[in-house]
Amino acid sequence: MSLDKTLNKILIIDFGSQFTQLIARRIRELGIFSEIVSHKKIKNKDINDYVKGIILSGGPLNVYEINKYSFDKKIIENQVPVLGICFGHQILSKLNGGKVKNSKHREFGLANIYKKKESDLTKNLFKKKKTIKVWMSHADQVSKLPQNFNVVASSKNSKFAIIENKTKKFYGVQFHPEVTHTENGKKIISNFIFNICSMKKNWSSKDQRQKLIKDVRYQVGNKKVICALSGGVDSSVVAQLLNKAIGKKLYCIFVNTGLLRKNEEKQVIKTFKKKLKINLIHVNAEKEFLKKLRNVSDPERKRKIIGNLFIKIFERYAKKIKDVKFLAQGTLYPDLIESKSVTGSQTSKIKSHHNVGGLPKKMSLKLVEPLKFLFKDEVRKLGLELNLSKEIISRHPFPGPGLAIRMPGKITKEKIDILKEADNYFIQALKDHNLYHKIWQAYAALLPVKTVGVMGDNRTYEYLCLLRAITSEDGMTADFYEFKKTFIQEISNKIVNSIRGINRVVYDITSKPPSTIELE
Ligand code: XMP
Repeated sequence: MSLDKTLNKILIIDFGSQFTQLIARRIRELGIFSEIVSHKKIKNKDINDYVKGIILSGGPLNVYEINKYSFDKKIIENQVPVLGICFGHQILSKLNGGKVKNSKHREFGLANIYKKKESDLTKNLFKKKKTIKVWMSHADQVSKLPQNFNVVASSKNSKFAIIENKTKKFYGVQFHPEVTHTENGKKIISNFIFNICSMKKNWSSKDQRQKLIKDVRYQVGNKKVICALSGGVDSSVVAQLLNKAIGKKLYCIFVNTGLLRKNEEKQVIKTFKKKLKINLIHVNAEKEFLKKLRNVSDPERKRKIIGNLFIKIFERYAKKIKDVKFLAQGTLYPDLIESKSVTGSQTSKIKSHHNVGGLPKKMSLKLVEPLKFLFKDEVRKLGLELNLSKEIISRHPFPGPGLAIRMPGKITKEKIDILKEADNYFIQALKDHNLYHKIWQAYAALLPVKTVGVMGDNRTYEYLCLLRAITSEDGMTADFYEFKKTFIQEISNKIVNSIRGINRVVYDITSKPPSTIELE
């Protein structure tokens, strides 16, 4: 395999952890270029002078099951600093004469580590504190310190929570510094990059933009690409990125599924066709979608039906346009994790995001997914770099399957119309009260239960509307937003009084996990 030969980098060797991309993200945040490679593919001959540091990721493996992984151990003999994280820590220990065993005390969650000695890796980490909280997720642990290593920090259950061989610049941490739960975890990564690997900043959102444009041009050559544009942040950024990369070879297809937010169609056409002058094909497939979804209640079936129909429509239009080879989508990294399509990941499938797991097995178009290793806030920054307006960039996320997954149970035109109105009132109220940008995502959903109410002395028997508003960093975890009573009361009154079909409003106060952001 060939590694990039233009920029100094941290090479991340992936052993299948669901946090590997989070390591890359932390490194990007620190202004440094990194490349992720699979442990199975990278060989010592591939390591070039641009590799200034190596990080061995975590993973679901056991170091003694050598038939399950392959790692060219010469890679760590290049006199380049190495940081092993979790499984990476264990393999680094084993390769240096240490031992690893299945721990009596499996540790999942927060643990306290305390300092045993000073180290370049932990500079300014403990500050005046004796202990800091770190996030552990392991069953195995190092049981015998490797030769010429010292213990930098320990926890109650992990004697070798941080170890080092200062001469060789080898460092191992049993916990995950890349997750936000680890107190000051980014400091560990920053110490490794700047103090130990002596790197200088070489990466910014502008560089990211240029690299992505270059990668897209390389992937699609002079072939035509259609782009699934929904008007949401991700697909808008992809459309604009491809517009910059390949101009008129790009054909954006906007499908009205009948499951969009109120006025969405008009807004998308105004922005993309009129303002950004992108080739835009507008398809009204409302009837087709509703027909296919008739009497379907199962959430996964809804997602699969919608995903399949989208592709059918794209293929239909690709044929009309002629010579189209690629379909571009705004898939992000969290979508891949939750649909369990990251190579080597052991995560279980939560739901089939329509632009990932909801795709049919056989497709004549090849996928272009330039954002698939980025997180939402990074995509927003990229959008600004691409001159998209703040209005588009700061919109709340909207899922591909649209209102279908905000309406548990059967989907009918009547329910869609009611839901569109309720959602519109809610979002408008958030904007009017300057709350919209404090909230990561908010929406109204319509629950498939009717309850009894009383209006003007008359009995009503109507649907239940659920409001959800959450704060989040990247959609992977979320907390519900705490509204003032006056606001939530005002919006509840507005919805019940203005919309026929709803006589009760509830507010969802669950976080993610245990719930997800969407209902289905
Ligand atoms: P969940 O419900 O999985 O949602 O907690 C996390 C984030 O992903 C969005 N979402 C989707 N986006 N296609 C998308 O493009 C999908 O199928 C899909 N399902 C969920 C959701 O709105 C939230 O922002």
